[in-house]
Amino acid sequence: MNLSEITDPVLGHLEKFNSYFKAMLQTNVSLLNLILKYVTSKKGKQLRPVLVFLSAQAAGKISNRTYVGAALVELLHTATLIHDDVVDEASERRGLASINAKWNNKIAVLIGDFLLAKGLLSAIDAGEMGFLNVSSKAVRRMSEGELLSIDKARNLSVDEDIYFQIIADKTASLLSACCEIGAMSTNDNPEYHEAMAQYGEAIGIAFQIRDDIFDFTSRSSLIGKPVGNDLKEKKATLPLIYALNNSTEKEKDTIIKLIKRGKLKKNEISMIIDFVIEKKGIEYAEKIALTFIETAKNSLGILSESPAKESLLRFADFVIHREN
Ligand code: IPE
Ligand code: IPE
Ligand code: MG
Ligand code: MG
Repeated sequence: MNLSEITDPVLGHLEKFNSYFKAMLQTNVSLLNLILKYVTSKKGKQLRPVLVFLSAQAAGKISNRTYVGAALVELLHTATLIHDDVVDEASERRGLASINAKWNNKIAVLIGDFLLAKGLLSAIDAGEMGFLNVSSKAVRRMSEGELLSIDKARNLSVDEDIYFQIIADKTASLLSACCEIGAMSTNDNPEYHEAMAQYGEAIGIAFQIRDDIFDFTSRSSLIGKPVGNDLKEKKATLPLIYALNNSTEKEKDTIIKLIKRGKLKKNEISMIIDFVIEKKGIEYAEKIALTFIETAKNSLGILSESPAKESLLRFADFVIHREN
């Protein structure tokens, strides 16, 4: 499934957005400029700005406010990825060395802080207190989700409810904010804001389930970041949780001990991946992701028919069929 078909209704805006975004990241500090240049040299998929623009267009007419919202969410996203790679001790991001790997943790933390502040300030400068309210709540949920995830990794929690709470907070919160902010930028009716927030929350959960499946089934050359990292970090995600909860006590015990021991070797990671596949953990996770996609699509009932709405429906399918 191809993202370019989905972005078609807002393509012109996305192109303008790219120069707008780059211009925001000029500073007078040379080390900062150097690193920011590195950060923006690989754009990523830009799904969050795409969601802002599509949600805006589906609810009304895109204006400068929409650009402010799109830049805000992409800045927050970039900041959290840089911090996430410190937390996860990940070496690669978007096919390049992560900031913590290329420089160090201190620099990565400070660059993440800079981008976070820059994002929030951009909303204040534009007088967009509503955007600031929605996005700050998302940032708070993202931190809560990451902390819950670290806390649960200590005992390798295999509780599905906790898993869903973690991914809703760490990932769906921001995707939900994107759609809500998009609608806020073009439409004053709170019913639209609420519907779009719900759509974003549901696709966000499915999106993270797909990301967690990649950690088992993809290759780092495809996704531009390491695979097997969640296992190394002792993070039990949906495919593994299902596999463990559907195996014998003995099998469960062996796998849990291995993951908890840490310092997993390549062949041990392959062994765990084979176990998850054999126990149908991937199929199960895919099936659950699909239910969230249906929920997401049902939230769009409030929108009248338009190419942007059509794209939001297809975006929902893209979230689980994407290859990176
Ligand atoms: C990665 O998000 C972080 C997750 C929520 C899984 P993306 O996959 O959207 O990252 P980029 O921006 O395309 O690199
Ligand atoms: C998502 O978690 C990161 C954020 C929501 C900040 P992951 O740790 O699974 O993301 P990747 O796999 O590193 O992109
Ligand atoms: Mg990570
Ligand atoms: Mg991941």
